[in-house]
Amino acid sequence: MTARIAVLASGRGSNLQAILDAIAAGTLPAALVGVFSDRPAAAALLRVPEAQRWAAAPSAFSDRPAYEAALADAVAATAPDWIVCAGYMRILGPAFVARFAGRLINIHPSLLPRYKGLHTHARALAAGDAEHGASVHFVVPELDAGTVLAQARVGVAPNDTAESLAARVLAVEHPLLLASLRLLCSGRVAEQGGRVVLDGHPLFSPMALDSAGTLHAPPA
Ligand code: GRF
Repeated sequence: MTARIAVLASGRGSNLQAILDAIAAGTLPAALVGVFSDRPAAAALLRVPEAQRWAAAPSAFSDRPAYEAALADAVAATAPDWIVCAGYMRILGPAFVARFAGRLINIHPSLLPRYKGLHTHARALAAGDAEHGASVHFVVPELDAGTVLAQARVGVAPNDTAESLAARVLAVEHPLLLASLRLLCSGRVAEQGGRVVLDGHPLFSPMALDSAGTLHAPPA
């Protein structure tokens, strides 16, 4: 069965585009069923046909739970197997997270648990880190705190700026997200009790992406 993927995005949607390209190339056996945004002007929306777009500004609703209930209903209506937050710039509340528990992932531009939240590249530079990267994790209501499924690392160069580092991290985000989705869509990976399980075996640290775009399980 082809896995159904819904994407939540607030901005440009390069991770969404990577998913669309991989589906079109036949390297991700999945279907994109909808793109959902809190910003009706988000460029990400324009990457899919109008029938697959849903967008609403939270300010149009009476409160945050009302906005999230409408978002959750719209997402559920597309019957997704996986919901991917790809540059979705809002914290999802407990009701939304519970409704899609175990099927909701986020891509975050840092090596979690380092640098949850914003400005991760500048913070890694300010700390003098030798390496930085990106993480794919299951979503919990606490920001960027869910179980980490996989990570990709990049070295920090002496002359890096937040912009140059962001560009190198983004270049590994796309293969990281695709490799993670391949495992999730094939049913080889799941989250059970706060732990990632690969082929029936619990993992005690995140999988790592190699330069060929393949994920490797940590040593047992
Ligand atoms: C990415 O860096 C992602 O990790 C972060 O927001 C950015 C979104 O980029 N959460 P894009 O919209 O997918 O191009």
